Parts: sequence; C-alpha cells; structure tokens
Amino acid sequence: MNSKLHGEINKFSEILIASNRGPVTLEKDENGDYTFKRGSGGLVTALTGLANYTNLTWVACALSPADFEWKQGYVCFDDPDCNLYVRFINPDPDAYEGYYNQISNPLLWFLQHSMWDVPRSPVINQETWKAWEMGYQVVNRQFAIEIADQVRKIKKPVLIMLQDYHLYLAARSLKRYLRGQDVTISLFVHIPWPGPEYWGILPTRMRQEILDGMCAADLLGFQTSEDGLNFIRTCENYLPKANVKYRNRHIRYRSHVTKVHDFPISIDVNALKTLSESPDVENFRTEIANQIKERKMILRVDRLEPSKNILRGFQAYDALLETHPEYQKNVVFMAYLIPSRVGVEEYQHYLDEIMVTVGRINAHYGSSEWEPVRLLVGENYPRAVAAMQMYDVLLVNSIADGMNLVAKEGPIVNQKDGVLILSERAGAIQQLASGSLVISPCDVYETQLALHQALTKNTELRKEKLSLLRKLVEEEDIHYWLKTQLEVVNNLANS
Ligand code: G6P
Repeated sequence: MNSKLHGEINKFSEILIASNRGPVTLEKDENGDYTFKRGSGGLVTALTGLANYTNLTWVACALSPADFEWKQGYVCFDDPDCNLYVRFINPDPDAYEGYYNQISNPLLWFLQHSMWDVPRSPVINQETWKAWEMGYQVVNRQFAIEIADQVRKIKKPVLIMLQDYHLYLAARSLKRYLRGQDVTISLFVHIPWPGPEYWGILPTRMRQEILDGMCAADLLGFQTSEDGLNFIRTCENYLPKANVKYRNRHIRYRSHVTKVHDFPISIDVNALKTLSESPDVENFRTEIANQIKERKMILRVDRLEPSKNILRGFQAYDALLETHPEYQKNVVFMAYLIPSRVGVEEYQHYLDEIMVTVGRINAHYGSSEWEPVRLLVGENYPRAVAAMQMYDVLLVNSIADGMNLVAKEGPIVNQKDGVLILSERAGAIQQLASGSLVISPCDVYETQLALHQALTKNTELRKEKLSLLRKLVEEEDIHYWLKTQLEVVNNLANS
C-alpha cells in the first residue's frame, strides 16, 4: 500500500466500512468451529488493507448459512497487525428478500444500467412498495443502527465509508442517530448513474427518498465524471430545495453540503501479477493451451449478468464466422461466466437464452475437432487469470457498466499482445479508450467488425496499445482509488 496513505488516515481515529457483501464469509468445519474466508477481489484487498493503518470496522449483511448462524457477529483476523473487525447484521429473511431480490437488483440495478424495457417493465405494484417499505428501508435502517452502535463505541473522529446502491438510505438515518458526533460519511456508488430522464420512471417518493438519503452524506463518489454530473442533474430536477453547483460539484440541501467527485475504481496490480505467476495459474494455462492448440482466442470473463451484453457478443461472433469462413476451425470464443443473483428471475432467463444461443452456434459451425464457443459457467479466478494471459482478443461489450475490472485485469497479465474491445458504455472507457477498440454495445455489426479488426491487427500496433493500457492501469490502481478518496475527505474535514 502507498505509504502516503498513512498521513491521510491519521486524520481519522477510526474507519468504518459498510456494504451488503462483507469482506469475509464464515464457514463451519466438521468440529462445528467457525473459520473465516476472506473475500477475493481488489476492493476487499484495498479496503481491508486499511486495517494495517487504523482500527477498521466493517458492517455487512450475513449472507452464508454460517454467517446467519453465528451469534456473536464479531470477528478479528488472527494477524496481530490487522485491526479488522467484522460485524454482521441479520435481517429478517423477508426483509432481505425485498431489499436484495426485489429492490436492489431488479429495480435499482436495472434502472442504473438502463436495462428496463419501458413499455413492459418495471411494474411497480403493491408488492414493490411492500419490498421498499418492509425490505429496503428496513435493512438500510438496520445498517444505520448497527453502524451508529459501533461508532458510539469507538474513538472519534470517524470516517464512515458506505458502499453502493444497497445503502442509499443509510446516511440520512445515520445523521439522525449520530447527531453532534464527529463523523464524516462518504458513499461510493460502484454502478453507473444515468441521467434524470431515466430516474423519472421511478415513482416520485422512492426517487426523493433515495436522493434525500444520499444528500445526507458528506462525499458522494462515482466511477466517472459523467456519473457524478448525472447525479447533480438528477438532484436539480427532482430534489425540491436542492441548490446545485456544477462548477464546484456540490449540492446544498437541508443546510448541508454534499461534495460529488469521481474516483474510478481499479485493481490491485501487484497482487494480480503475483497470482498470475503462481503454479495454480500455470496449470490452468497448460490446460487451456491444450484446448486451444494453435487457434486464436477471443475471451470474455463476466458475471452472468444481462448488463454484460453476453448475447450480443455471441451474435457478433456468429456473424463473424458467417462472413469470414476462414475463421472457422481457427478461432475459439472462450466465455467464462460466473453465476450471479440466481434468485432474480431475469438472471435465470438470461442463462437459458445464453445456453440456447451457444448451443445453436456450436451445432451450426462446430465439428468433432472444433467447438466454436467454449462456455464455462462457474467461479474459478485462477483459471480466468490464466485465460486472460492467453487471449488474442478480450471482449468487454457491456450495455452499461460502472467500471469493468476485467478490462483492467486483462491488459496487466496478457502475454499475447491481445487487443481489448471495449464498450463505450463501460466506466473504464474514461481511462482506457486510447488503448482499446471502442464499440457501441448494441451495434452487433460494429462488434463483428471490431472482432475482425482485432484478429488481424499487426503486431507492432497491438504491442503499442497493450503497453499503453498497462501504463494507464498501473498509474491509477486500487490504492490510488482509495488514496484520492481519503484526500478529498480530508479536504472536506479541513474546510
Ligand atoms: C458488481 C458491482 C458492484 C456490486 C456487486 C454486487 O460487482 O460492480 O457494484 O456491489 O456486483 O454483487 P452481488 O453478487 O453481491 O449482488
């Protein structure tokens, strides 16, 4: 971690993070003892890394059966230098269902990724309102109560860092519960923030409660500058009495100023490089090399998620094989999809559609020696890293995406001068456009052309673009993301 972080953190006696998914999941061994498994991914690594500098408390929802069972709800890692405490809240299952499976994901996630089919969805009925009132509001309040309880016990000043769209209402309750206490609240929105036109579809009361809740925070972080501007525009349109300042990027509302800033999230570059050199990854490289042989590889690695635009990716590949028969037998499309939100109906349907599409392509073009699409559904990060080392083309064609970390991971580990095809609607475009082939995600024809262009690009140009991408990612990695947030928070505290 960057040594400068020390100075930034010193201004706060303690830091508290809150997110739906915590940094650890509990497991119960055969003796009935609980063990902790640290969550993977750069975000958890960076944020838990704060525990090396200060006391860190993390409040999250219990998600696994062991998390739920575990009564004390308070843990500490064995590492003597690590001051990380995790506190789980245990919402009632019906409340959680409404909060996660009805509001956070089908409603807010779909809205913020512009995935509604407006003539048909969303249908906001009594059920939805029940999920809002008995689910989303309740779980947000539970979070706020737990956070406030923790904050009362710890030394001030405290920085509370709320994470993501599950917790839009928490800051307002916290302001009430912690009145007069020396706390600063930030909320980082990891997903896109569309313009007010789209938010107009949400019922007035829900929309206002969200904006009112968010404007109780001192700092609102977004992935891109456009997301932040969209937020300010949304408040200007829909939050009565909000006074917005575009130039300073702040909103004055209910006698409080909220600063809006973009902090593009990134990856832990060093940790990824270390993993990519591990024997585990090497074994997967050998396995994949045996599958691919001399063929070129198009790769995608995504959560199994409609916003990733997986179907249009296959449609573009289908069109490529049709118009360029020379690729038949000479290219393989590896699709590694990680199951996600299986409790949400749309996700189940999406998987069904993917299976049908892949089945059709493989049946149409494939033979006993060649499977045009190799689809793997499951979670295996070392295998995904091995594949990222070996791609000729990495396809990231999301309809909308907060950032897209695969677009940052791929170039860091790739060993084949691979080309990144990047959707103009992924947050990563703000930093990576100059090193990528940029596409409009709904344009299947353009995607097909980009696949062809990427597969035929000359080596010099590929090398040049890849090293540019590497430089861009290395300059602003996950520690930079954290450090810039702490700097802005400190400036607020000083102003
Ligand atoms: C993606 C998004 C995050 C979000 C997470 C939730 O990774 O980028 O913003 O918090 O999904 O995923 P989950 O599996 O917990 O619903």
